[in-house]
Amino acid sequence: MTQTLSIFSETAQREDKFQLATYKKYDLDAVRGRGCWVETSDGERYLDLYGGHAVAATGHCHPHVVEAIKRQADEMLFYSNLVYSGVRARAAEKLVSIAPAPLSKVFFCNSGTEANENAMRIARLVTGREKVITFTGGFHGRTADAISATAIGKYRELGRPNVPGHIFVEFGNAEAIQQAANNTIAAIMLEPIQSIGGVTMASPYYYKLLRAVCDAHGILLIFDEVQTGVGRTGSWFFAGSEAAGGVVPDCVTLAKALGSGVPVGACLTTDAHAAHIKENSLGTTFGGGMLAMAAVTATLEAIEDDGMMANARAMEIHLRARLKEIPIVVALRGRGLLLGIEFEEAIAAQVNRDLLERFHIITGTSSDARVLRLLPPLCVSHAEIDMLIDALKEVSASET
Ligand SMILES: Cc1ncc(COP(=O)(O)O)c(C=O)c1O
Repeated sequence: MTQTLSIFSETAQREDKFQLATYKKYDLDAVRGRGCWVETSDGERYLDLYGGHAVAATGHCHPHVVEAIKRQADEMLFYSNLVYSGVRARAAEKLVSIAPAPLSKVFFCNSGTEANENAMRIARLVTGREKVITFTGGFHGRTADAISATAIGKYRELGRPNVPGHIFVEFGNAEAIQQAANNTIAAIMLEPIQSIGGVTMASPYYYKLLRAVCDAHGILLIFDEVQTGVGRTGSWFFAGSEAAGGVVPDCVTLAKALGSGVPVGACLTTDAHAAHIKENSLGTTFGGGMLAMAAVTATLEAIEDDGMMANARAMEIHLRARLKEIPIVVALRGRGLLLGIEFEEAIAAQVNRDLLERFHIITGTSSDARVLRLLPPLCVSHAEIDMLIDALKEVSASET
């Protein structure tokens, strides 16, 4: 008798057969998403505290975003930057309006890695220099220049031969950056909160020091806000926030949440630097396409209208308080809803698996084996955080 495969098994077999095996996958297929919940083909529901790698900031299928995408799809899917577009103009204006001064100009692209490549190019064009300093534990993408700027060895090695001119400095070490910076450096680029590196952040004084070092040597400061941007840390940007010591860099890069899942990246810079950028200095076919631009405006409106940044701040406080009930947790790293739960021991991968398999809760790991990462939609509720706490209590009881 032939056995019929479940839709999930059939999907998994077909994907594995026809797609390069580059990703380690969870044992589930996602067919539908609403808010913080993901549904599978067999009707199982999962609480998504990972947001598809920090992309689903507005929650899955936010009605305002879905409606804007549908409307735009009916009008026009795409035309390149050869023509003007009202949808693009609105997205650019909206993004600049929420950016801290003096960030006033945007270049749209399609992903985080591309945004970082363009930010580094802007720095080279502005300064006429080539070298870029980045930090241990930072991740900036997988294309040639961005992977070469990524200090984490297992990624950087994949990019060999690496682009020359990349220098790495220990994150948070004040002396090291002062020694490494000089007037041959084009840019200092950092994830202000290192996400995959284990949700590590520095003190406001350190970001201020970076600003001062850049100003002293004519270096451009770039914040890679691919994860921290678009409201995730409780403000539109980490740049300019209290946690950043009020520091505003010369360029901010964004992607992930910016289009609620429609691929889009952006690089913001100042009027003064924009003056060095000429026709053809930067470019990409898809950047600024109408569908993506409609998604950007609607995403920013949804975050604003639903008070999601205030919710991100409130949920961080709630989680911090409730995590005190979990004996195996030693700290909560990060800010807003870019969070890393630090355990006493290197058990994050095991906890991640337990939460998924026993409790249907999706979380993420990091390159620090003690840190479980949470990147939930910014609309996550008290009740949903409490579900995580209840599950962690049980996981904790079986670990001890
Ligand atoms: C901080 C940071 N920068 C850059 C990237 C690269 O973004 P993308 O995968 O969209 O190219 C990522 C992706 O995880 C990231 O977390």
